[in-house]
Amino acid sequence: MPFDEPTDSAAPRGLNILFLGDIVAASGRNAVMRATPLLREALALDLLCANAENAAHGFGLTPSIAERLLDAGLDLLTTGNHVWDQPQLIDYLHEHPTAPILRPHNMHSDPRAPMPGRGYADLALSEGKSVRVVNIIGQVFMEPCAHPWFSLQELLAADEQHASGWDALLIDCHAETTGEKLALARLCDGKATAFLGTHTHIPTADAAIFPKGLAYQTDLGMCGCYDSVLGFEHSLSVARYLKKAPKVKFEPAAGEVSICGAFIQTDPESGRARRIEPLRLSASENSLLPSTLPQALCPYKKDLQELLEAC
Ligand SMILES: [Fe+2]
Ligand SMILES: [Fe+2]
Repeated sequence: MPFDEPTDSAAPRGLNILFLGDIVAASGRNAVMRATPLLREALALDLLCANAENAAHGFGLTPSIAERLLDAGLDLLTTGNHVWDQPQLIDYLHEHPTAPILRPHNMHSDPRAPMPGRGYADLALSEGKSVRVVNIIGQVFMEPCAHPWFSLQELLAADEQHASGWDALLIDCHAETTGEKLALARLCDGKATAFLGTHTHIPTADAAIFPKGLAYQTDLGMCGCYDSVLGFEHSLSVARYLKKAPKVKFEPAAGEVSICGAFIQTDPESGRARRIEPLRLSASENSLLPSTLPQALCPYKKDLQELLEAC
């Protein structure tokens, strides 16, 4: 058995969830799509989500890319500040209102201004289980938006005492600063299963279970090339910062690809998290990114690296 299930096969099992950080450009999405079958099997996943706000050449998400990621085996895609970089996604979400693609719930700064898409989704899983996934965006060093906590409160209130029937409630918090993510996460402890940061593209080494059972990681990192600046060719970023050249057009970096995210296992009774393990995997051992794998994936490391080599 690939995952260390309880020895009593009749014992209720929690959900196995993998949430991947920002998918950047073709190399990132190819890596995710190639690795998905093995990840699903080896981790006995009930749910696989990823932030896809940079999947289209680094900027936004096209409908066809979204459909390919979902066809490859992802269950749901979240986004962030880049969600509308590819405007065809706006029409697509109008036409497919139930597509498992989220934009930040609080992205509107004025509730009277309608915003396409939706910020949360309830997914039905196997064996009658269900999960709610919420996408929010931070305010610090970001574009104006509604307050993330007051926006979240409405969605969390329905889950008080786990009475709503969801088996897990996951939050993708797309925000720039560690402090804002930590403060919001503390407010969510005891009210959600996991609070996972995205947007900075750099995985943090602070995966933890908070006192009331919230799995937390400040940032999941990205699925893309780390020999770069946030997945983009570093010479172009250097030119922009050094020469004050704001018109420099960023291009995704070419090079070794990595997959980053976090594996979460829930408690079947409470819906809280009982385990979070970061996933950081590159095509080779010489990567800039130190490798960290969930325990259950360790035997599959070589297989996964071979899958990533061709991306
Ligand atoms: Fe991003
Ligand atoms: Fe972002």
